[in-house]
Amino acid sequence: MYDAPAPATEAELRALEADYCSWGDTVHYLDHPKFFDTCEGSYMYDAEGRAFLDLQMWYSAVNFGYRNPRLNAVAHRQLDRLPQVASQYLHREKVELAATIARDIEAKFGSKGRVHFNVGGAQAVEDSLKIVRNASGGKSLMFAFEGGYHGRTLGASAITSSYRYRRRYGHFGDRAQFIEFPYHFRGPPGMTKEEYGEHCVAKFARLFETEYNGVLDTKTGQAEFAAFYIEPIQGTGGYVIPPPNFFIGIKKVLDQHGILLVVDEIQMGMYRTGKLWSIEHFGVQPDVLVFGKALTNGLNPLSGLWAREELINPTVFPPGSTHSTFNANPMGTAVALETLRMCGELDYGRSVAEKGAYFLEGLKALQARWPQIGDVDGLGLALRCEICEADGYTPNKTLLDRMEEEAMKGDLEAGGRRMGLILDVGGYHKNVITLAPSLEITFEEIDQALELLDALLRRCVAA
Ligand SMILES: Cc1ncc(COP(=O)(O)O)c(C=O)c1O
Repeated sequence: MYDAPAPATEAELRALEADYCSWGDTVHYLDHPKFFDTCEGSYMYDAEGRAFLDLQMWYSAVNFGYRNPRLNAVAHRQLDRLPQVASQYLHREKVELAATIARDIEAKFGSKGRVHFNVGGAQAVEDSLKIVRNASGGKSLMFAFEGGYHGRTLGASAITSSYRYRRRYGHFGDRAQFIEFPYHFRGPPGMTKEEYGEHCVAKFARLFETEYNGVLDTKTGQAEFAAFYIEPIQGTGGYVIPPPNFFIGIKKVLDQHGILLVVDEIQMGMYRTGKLWSIEHFGVQPDVLVFGKALTNGLNPLSGLWAREELINPTVFPPGSTHSTFNANPMGTAVALETLRMCGELDYGRSVAEKGAYFLEGLKALQARWPQIGDVDGLGLALRCEICEADGYTPNKTLLDRMEEEAMKGDLEAGGRRMGLILDVGGYHKNVITLAPSLEITFEEIDQALELLDALLRRCVAA
């Protein structure tokens, strides 16, 4: 069994994958997902050495570039010093990392809190569910957004909008009540972005007007809901950016009714939008903030949450509440600590804003040439490009599927070089390119990305 010869060809590997790999833990958007061999900076390379410019960076887990030398060096050092330690003991990186995050949040939002670790985004969301259920005296109902995504464990999929992720598995508990998000491009005609934001807030506030709307006991003032889970900018939902007034309005309603605000920064945190936490753009304070992905630049699974002291102090949330073997693993905490130190030294706030504005200008120029690009938008280096029919509005998933497939062939031309392009597809109609390039991307690479997108549209629209 263990002495079977190693598969020699890609065809042999594909045959083994078809026979022995579960497909349930992946997403197989394409019939033949590509094998990659190496990576560096903004590029992945296949076994033939063909370069693929990556515009999604492992779903925004590798914000600081593949094999970032500074972060990789710390991983190597930690591997040679203290790579393993059971979580009933302590190591300095865990403590320093928790203190760094808690102090940053206290300075920005004014509340003392504590940090709690786990290994994946969905697991940290699960932990946050325990915290808000506990703090609310066991209430299990949550609000979340239409188009929201919080992961695929049982609890996280209950507050994720897509029924598709729940359909086969029954309910773990209560699915969230999903609230309209101001997705302006597909919102009611004739409203400005701000007006649509206000409209959505008013619709939400209306739920609390009488007990007959089903969320509030007006006699006691008790809401049936523990928390509202938000992504400040919708990730899987298609990088939808709400107007600046929106969350201020939502938070006012939540505060009136004692409902906690849980901010999911798993995809949009770590400077993706030009700030460490994307909620910093929107003028509200989280009660709980959940993070993951790029905290370690995708090097070692580490996720976690910050919560206000009242919600998480050891009296109310004692040892063992969510323990998991690998939770504050030293490889992850060491790299995460270095990531935050690096963010403190380098001015990502400025560079991400500049690069994002340059990329968005380029996308607007592409949009002017291609009627199939219905909408482009961006905040920092979280950018969206919505692919439509030639009317510029009707979602065209077929065209985007074709683009994604062609981009993976690796034979597009940019600046006299042949290469591929790695795209991620998201959005309510699966017709949005959600662009999450490396925050270290150069202006030349942004030009290359725009040239490759243009070449891709030329090839696929013509077809
Ligand atoms: C906003 C958000 N929350 C939660 C998750 C789940 O994280 P993970 O895939 O690490 O479980 C994701 C993953 O894409 C995400 O984008």
